[in-house]
Amino acid sequence: MRAGVYDSGVGGLTVAKSLIGHRLFDEIVYFGDTARVPYGTKEPQTIIKYSLEALEYLKTFDIDIMIVACNTVSAHALGELQKNAPFEVFGVIEPGVLAVANRLKNKDASILILGTKATINSGQYEKLLRQKGYSNLISLSPSLFVPIVEEGLFEGEVLQSAIEYYLKDIKQDPDAVILGCTHFPLISKALQAHFPKSVLIHSGEAIVEYLESKCSLTKSKNQTTLKLLASDNVKTLEYTADLWLKN
Ligand code: DGL
Repeated sequence: MRAGVYDSGVGGLTVAKSLIGHRLFDEIVYFGDTARVPYGTKEPQTIIKYSLEALEYLKTFDIDIMIVACNTVSAHALGELQKNAPFEVFGVIEPGVLAVANRLKNKDASILILGTKATINSGQYEKLLRQKGYSNLISLSPSLFVPIVEEGLFEGEVLQSAIEYYLKDIKQDPDAVILGCTHFPLISKALQAHFPKSVLIHSGEAIVEYLESKCSLTKSKNQTTLKLLASDNVKTLEYTADLWLKN
């Protein structure tokens, strides 16, 4: 089975890594819209337009299923993609919410949602979490985490200052922290050190859990092959994949 994995840029490689690790597909065709990243600061109609263009492009690769790795696209364009695609399209928000529900049985649990401005403004995580009965929610958009990760600063003083800056008002460890942006799993060690008692929810692991429970996928016997496509600077995407996908 060939999956198309779509992201606004390089960040979706964190989701691709989980899919590859669990051998859910024979082949992944990854498209990062690196010419137009970031999406997280854009208007919903722009995100929808870019997403529909990406869909048309991915259709030419004869994919069987599309995984939207990008939280921002999942928040704003999933419905449009599903309407226009001849194959199934899955986003990462519902899987993230189900991953929370599988781990936190107490509906009074406190949940911190971290995402881009566009993801947080969409209110999608909050809406789905409320539907599941959770109401103790805080949403934050730590925008600087994205460029910090892209600089490869997975630890150290720059990251620590950003963590202190954005999370200073949260005095108690939330029961769960949703890493609602493709980049945030790469700084999960530092976030876990900041909130040692919290369960961190990773979009990649959540979508694997979701696909395994909802779709009858036969695991690939061989290692998943990865084809990398980008709307600009494919070399940077390849370099980042070498770095992030090892181990
Ligand atoms: N991929 C985006 C997300 O997961 C983060 C980067 C961007 O703003 O495009 O929301």
